[in-house]
This record gives sequence, structure tokens and C-alpha cells, in this order.
Amino acid sequence: MHTDVLVIGTGISGLTYAIKLAEEAPETNITLICKDKLEEGNTRYAQGGIAVVSNFKKDTFEKHIEDTYAAGDKAGDRGVIEFVIKEGNDRLQELIEWGTQFDRNNKKTLDLTKEGGHSEKRIVHYKDHSGAEIQRALIEKVKDFENIQYFENHILVDLITDHHTGSKNNRCYGAYIISTVDEEIIKITAKITVLSTGGVGQIYAFTTNPFGATGDGLGAAYRAKVKLEKLPFIQFHPTALFPKVEGETFLITEALRGEGALLKNLSGEQFMGKYHPLKELAPRDIVARSIIREMLSQQESNVHLDATGIDQTSLLSHFPTIVDTCRSIGIDPVTSSIPVVPAAHYSCGGIAVDEHSKTTLDGLFAIGECSHTGLHGANRLASNSLLESIVFSHRAALSSAQELNKISLTSTFYTSIPDWKGQHFSKDNEQEITLKLREQLKKIMSDQVGIFKTNKGLLAAQNTIKELYFEVVDLYNSNKLSPQICELRNMVSVAYVLVNQSLELTENKGVFYNHNYGKEAVL
Ligand code: SIN
Repeated sequence: MHTDVLVIGTGISGLTYAIKLAEEAPETNITLICKDKLEEGNTRYAQGGIAVVSNFKKDTFEKHIEDTYAAGDKAGDRGVIEFVIKEGNDRLQELIEWGTQFDRNNKKTLDLTKEGGHSEKRIVHYKDHSGAEIQRALIEKVKDFENIQYFENHILVDLITDHHTGSKNNRCYGAYIISTVDEEIIKITAKITVLSTGGVGQIYAFTTNPFGATGDGLGAAYRAKVKLEKLPFIQFHPTALFPKVEGETFLITEALRGEGALLKNLSGEQFMGKYHPLKELAPRDIVARSIIREMLSQQESNVHLDATGIDQTSLLSHFPTIVDTCRSIGIDPVTSSIPVVPAAHYSCGGIAVDEHSKTTLDGLFAIGECSHTGLHGANRLASNSLLESIVFSHRAALSSAQELNKISLTSTFYTSIPDWKGQHFSKDNEQEITLKLREQLKKIMSDQVGIFKTNKGLLAAQNTIKELYFEVVDLYNSNKLSPQICELRNMVSVAYVLVNQSLELTENKGVFYNHNYGKEAVL
């Protein structure tokens, strides 16, 4: 199959990019690939909202720029931070024009809320399920375009590069894709390929990311020798509901703390004052580390988030999903504290891109969480991720529209690209082994490469992941390729690069904390 543009991943980034490009270049044929149903993916789980300067009476671009730079521990790219924040409001207006609902106040202006690290109220939201509302609106909009087609239940296997064509163009020519239904592998050639595959949270045991967040884009990019950077900067969200609900970790949005919810240890004492002057609204990395320190000092398995001081009407109307989920496991946030722990949440690093989302491989773009733009530095400011997605998807689409006109490869060239060469062995107990290795990886990453690291732990993790890697290679070589093996191969590769890059870091910054270089007191 051939398409002008192949977009792999259909969260806010992939969908926004496709809509923009379809508007900008209506003659372009665009193909979207999603792992599950169009509705599924990381975006759907975003609760908080989008950080955008929209109340110009109180807020300024400068304040948001400074907040972003400070939260990122001064490691972000100031040029990138500046244009993302300045372009944010225009992109937000487009989302609204495309049908996205955001909460409004009595005066019908956008209802703004606050999250950690923000000096002003600037989070635009839809109750406590902003991501699901954005995803709904974008899916409806995408369906308006006849030149956009999509395939659900397909996973990226590998990018098609010079390695497959025998050419020397340093170029991407599409991808091999596997169906999760019948496991057929198809070749989709494309002039431009876009990775919008989201995060890697599944390499950890406790994560706010859904089951599909296995770093597929990063794994494929790594195998195609595309530059990956800053992978050690994994952000842990301070407050995930404890324990898991039906095997899944449920996020408790930071907006609850923005509205006044307090962190307490199990003796009922507020503790954030001991760790940071901004207390509950300190940047996320500091709150997450403080919670772990408090849990260790109190020898407790979790802490509490007390939202009982929030006005009941506003708690019920602004946070219906959280209230319902907590009530489903017997906790009523109106009257009782919510048990919470930190959980792996967001990859601040990723596939290196320029300011138009171009990677180091021609014809390959990366957008959203799988990319590294320089916006977040060493720690992402709350609700800046959806902002980054809408700004960079727009830029990538405009840049793609220009680039498409310049690509002169012939249809004969694309037809000559070989089909996937897989050897078809019969399946043994591959599913069982895959799951076992997946669980082993999650345990190593959580035990040795979590919020607090040491050189000793990182070296141990490096050795074990290397062994796991060879087991996965063996599994890959001796079984018919399956979606589960594809995911595991990506998870192990990403974990390996993450650990190697962690060992190269010699100072603590933002979310990266190694006790060997500790600047905060070690309990
Ligand atoms: C949250 O609602 O706390 C998560 C939002 C984000 O990750 O920025």
C-alpha cells in the first residue's frame, strides 16, 4: 500500500497533524494507524487540561515562559519555550473551532484552573476529563475529510529505511505494520512518515499510562538509528490512586491540589511545608520526591490527598470522574482522604526534533510525547504536554506540506521496496514468555531506575536489561512475529537506552535524581 503521509499514533498530536495537513494540502492522501480503537491512547487519560495564556488581563507570556523554564530546572530551550507559549492561544482557538468543549464561568469566558509550578490560573479544562473531550472532538473532525483514512488495531513493527531499500538517502520511506487481529504484516510506503506514538510508561510497574504506552515509536526510531535524547527524564506524577483499580493505575489530577486539596501523611499531618515553600503546588518532581521521602520516613506505603476542604458543589462538578472512580472502590472524596502514591507519568525526553518536528532521518517527523523538542527541560510543567502537541503538530503539518512538493521519488521506487521478510515458525508458549519478560522489565525499572537512582542500581539494571534483551532477540528470532513481541522489543530497547543515558549523567536535574550526586538531604 502507498500513501503520501503515514501517521502512526492517533492521540491529540496525530489527529491535529492530520486535520491541519488535510486543510493545508487537500490533495494529500493521509493514512492514520492506531494500536487500538481511535478513541484509545494516552490523550484520552489526560485529566488536567491545556496550559495556555488566555487571560491577558492577569497573565502574561513572560510569566508562563518563566514558570516553564523554572519547572524544567533551567534545562529547557528558551527559544522553543517562547514560541510554544506565544503560539498556544491560536492553536487553542482552533481546537475550540473544531468543536472541543472547555468549561466556562458565569461570564462565559474560559474557566481557568491552576496546577503545580504555575504562577497564575491558566489551565483550560473540561471538567476532569479534558483529554477525552479533545479526543472526541478531533475524531469527529478527522472523519470530515475524505483524504484521511485510518486503520485501527495495527502496531508499528519497523520503519522502512535505506537498510530495506539499499539506497543511501538517509531517508524514511514508510513502515511495516502488524495487525493485532490476524497478525498480518503489511508494508505501507509513504513520502512522509510521522511518529506520534506517545509515551513509555509501561516500562514501569506503576504508571498512569495505558497498556499500549510501550514506546513503539522510540523503539523503531532507535533501530533506524534516529537520535534519541534525554530519555532519563521520566516524570513521575505525585498522585495516582493507591491501590490500582482493576489492574490499572488511576490518575488523580494535580488540578485537585490547584483547587486546595492537601497532602497528608497517614497520621493526618501536612508535610509539604517541610520540603518546599510552594507546598502542594511545588513543581511535580519536588512533590513526587517529597512524597517518597515522607513515605520512607513514616514507613508507610502511601500518603493521603485530602480534598474534603474543597466546596462540595465544585468538587462534584469539576471532578466527576475522580469522585466516581474513588467511590467505586469505597472511598468518598467528599468526606474522606484519597490514598495516593507517585507513578511514572510522562517522558520528557524522546526522539530529537527541530522546531518543525523533523527528526535526524529525512522524511520522518515526530510529534507529541514521543518527541523531544526542548520545551520541558528536565521536568515538564503541568499541562504543558497538550500545549506542546497542538503547537508542534501545526508546525509539522505546515512543514510537511512544503516538503511533499519537493520529494521526487518515483512510484517504481516505492513498489520495489521489499515486503516484510519474516520467517514463519509455529507458535510455542511465546505469549507466556513475553508476558513474563515484560513483568521482569517493569520490576527492574521500578526497583532500580525509579524516582531515586544510584550508580550501583543503574549498573545492575544495565546488566539485567542486557540479558533480557538477548532473551527478546531469541524470542523474536524463533517465533512468528506477534504484536506482543513487537511491544516487548520496544520496551526493552527504550529501557536499555534510558539506563545507558542515565549512567552518562553526572548531576541531578529536574526529575533525574541519583543519590550519588544528591543535592537534597537523603533520609
Ligand atoms: C494532571 O491532570 O495532573 C496531569 C496533567 C499533566 O500531566 O500535565
